[in-house]
Amino acid sequence: MAFARFASTSATAAAKKLVVKHVTVVGGGQMGAGIAQVAASTGHTVILVDQSDEILNKSKKGIEDSLKKVAKKRFADKPEAGAEFIEKTLKNIGTSTDPVSVVHSTDLVVEAIVENLSAKHDLFKTLDKFAPEHTIFASNTSSLPITDIANATTRQDRFGGLHFFNPVPVMKLVEVVKTPMTSEKTFESLVDFTKALGKNPVACKDTPGFIVNRLLVPYLMEAVRLFERGDATKEDIDIAMKLGAGYPMGPFELLDYVGLDTSKYIIDGWQSLDPDNPLFAPSPLLNKLVEEKKLGKKTGEGFYKHK
Ligand code: CAA
Ligand code: NAD
Repeated sequence: MAFARFASTSATAAAKKLVVKHVTVVGGGQMGAGIAQVAASTGHTVILVDQSDEILNKSKKGIEDSLKKVAKKRFADKPEAGAEFIEKTLKNIGTSTDPVSVVHSTDLVVEAIVENLSAKHDLFKTLDKFAPEHTIFASNTSSLPITDIANATTRQDRFGGLHFFNPVPVMKLVEVVKTPMTSEKTFESLVDFTKALGKNPVACKDTPGFIVNRLLVPYLMEAVRLFERGDATKEDIDIAMKLGAGYPMGPFELLDYVGLDTSKYIIDGWQSLDPDNPLFAPSPLLNKLVEEKKLGKKTGEGFYKHK
């Protein structure tokens, strides 16, 4: 009898979990486009939002190119099935320049806009007024406290972190971040969503950099400092970490891949929280490149030139 009561209680709790079907992704850059692609390719309907149609057209082109790579691999011997997969995925993605007009029917908002707290606040504060009660909000921030972002809303219990990795269609990990206010149901719904995307979730508290970036970003900054001191060339540092440590990219290649603006926002934010920590010291070279709008792969030049 007691067991039956327990079983029905846990069944009710499970039934209460939100099964995400419709996703709004805000920010159609490297990360947002990748998140939209993976969600759409796993059967979710997606609206991708950015500031202009021009940007959204670029996002869609990027998604199509990436889908071709995925299809080539997944349907190596069945090109027709690959073409059908691409067509079906693209059909699941709509676009908009006005998030307010599209959130009315969404289960989950994933934010992947610029790494800036006030921009994220403005966005979520507005969306909080227009999204349905049940809608979960999540940020893909690399370094900002999820709690600080959630505080712009009245739904801190339905707010968590979903930290994807670049390139999203390839990288298997998602860090699912639970703040002290995130409800268990929200956390579990986010975990289930990442699994539905075919990703491997790990749980993390709302601590700066979560797991990966807390380890990765200081390493990247140490590489820049090594180069700034003239101890080795950036090319040799990249070769050293690839051939000596087995990393798929060297630190300068990876900084260009992530985006030098994003890397600078991360380190500047942490430095303001912990000014005496030498791991978070700013880099004059990184600052100079960002000032020159050499942001890496996305602008065609960073530490290296890109085609
Ligand atoms: N979409 C779909 N498929 C892609 C892709 C994309 N955008 N990019 C690469 N691929 C596929 C390729 O088609 C290729 O597939 P096959 O195995 O079938 O040939 C495979 O991935 C490998 O790609 P490439 O041969 O072009 O090049 P590569 O072997 O150098 O791999 C890479 C590219 C996957 C990006 C690899 O270099 C890598 O893993 N780099 C490190 C990436 C990394 O560390 N990311 C985390 C950054 S930190 C972060 O994201 C968090 C943050 O907050 C800043
Ligand atoms: P990105 O510069 O490629 O794209 C950001 C996009 O957001 C741009 O297209 C921009 O037009 C759009 N945008 C800015 N403000 C907006 C607004 N108010 N409304 C709608 N769209 C807006 O940046 P990214 O690399 O995709 O990073 C996005 C977020 O993901 C950041 O928070 C970043 O820290 C995080 N992140 C980045 C990486 C990475 O490797 N680049 C990895 C994980 C997480």
